[in-house]
Amino acid sequence: MLEKIQELLSEVEKFTCSSAEDLEKFRIEYLGKKGKITALFADFKTVPNEQKKEVGQKINLLKNTASDKVEALKQSLSASRKVTVGNDLSLPGEAGNIGSRHPISLVRNEISEIFKRIGFTISEGPEIEDDWHVFSALNFPEEHPARDMQDTFFIEKNPDVLLRTHTSSVQVRVMDYAKPPIRTLSPGRVFRNEAISARAHCIFHQIEGLYIDKDVSFADLKQTLLYFAKEFFGEKSEIRLRPSYFPFTEPSAEVDVSCSLCSGKGCNVCKYTGWLEILGCGMVDPNVLESSGIDSKTYSGFAFGMGIERIAMLKYGIKDLRLFFENDKRFLEQFSEM
Ligand code: PHE
Repeated sequence: MLEKIQELLSEVEKFTCSSAEDLEKFRIEYLGKKGKITALFADFKTVPNEQKKEVGQKINLLKNTASDKVEALKQSLSASRKVTVGNDLSLPGEAGNIGSRHPISLVRNEISEIFKRIGFTISEGPEIEDDWHVFSALNFPEEHPARDMQDTFFIEKNPDVLLRTHTSSVQVRVMDYAKPPIRTLSPGRVFRNEAISARAHCIFHQIEGLYIDKDVSFADLKQTLLYFAKEFFGEKSEIRLRPSYFPFTEPSAEVDVSCSLCSGKGCNVCKYTGWLEILGCGMVDPNVLESSGIDSKTYSGFAFGMGIERIAMLKYGIKDLRLFFENDKRFLEQFSEM
């Protein structure tokens, strides 16, 4: 009996296989109802009493070794089957997390495309600027309140270095290197020392437009902005100009577009006026042309500037400006390419 057990034990220990079918055959052959090890338990009755303890222990050891073997082989076979599954090229791939375009980029691109269609190019300038490009060259008098420390972030050690407060600085940069005719659009990030709230932020984005040529008139400005309003807010849109003031344009105006949500009838977005303020504009002040070396007797031009966040809030009905800067995926995923 002990010899038989020893024989079976070495068979079990030696056994290995590479398929589930072979493993099942092995299990049935040794551990099945009519298996070799099961048969030993039946023979156990015939073992003389004084040997029962030793034989019993050996049979149990054999049975456990065989069960462990089956379990171990089962594990390693299913692990190798997983590898085969991984190589199945017909299985669907893992979903990629590709993200989405930021609503500010979407609106900036859409506005850029509208102006590119009528011949505007895109130009950029630095965010860290000097006094000349942000203020002086744009006809800001020395004591103008926009230069006040309240509005502008200055570099402490050198007040000539500052973060641009508007993209109008790019007008000056373009006029530095380009000769008229100039027709350009400058999107970019701007900075103002403002408390952060639902309606204001210390960082936001603007798009500047500049058009300089011979005989550019206020009518050209008005028609260009009407074209933009109809393209962006819809064919039925109308615009209205209100007199305003900017140091670098004369005359200057604030532009409203008819509310696209209520078609001008009045709603809570337009505060029941039927109009939404969208940008500032005007004819480029001759002083600005001259300080950039452009002859103001030969050339004239117009400029306009709009806040991208403001336009995006109107387009998508967003009520809180801070959402644009929080990078919450649940917010960002809601906007798709137009
Ligand atoms: N730079 C002005 C602003 O930030 C907007 C503007 C641009 C006005 C161009 C007139 C012409 O408010």
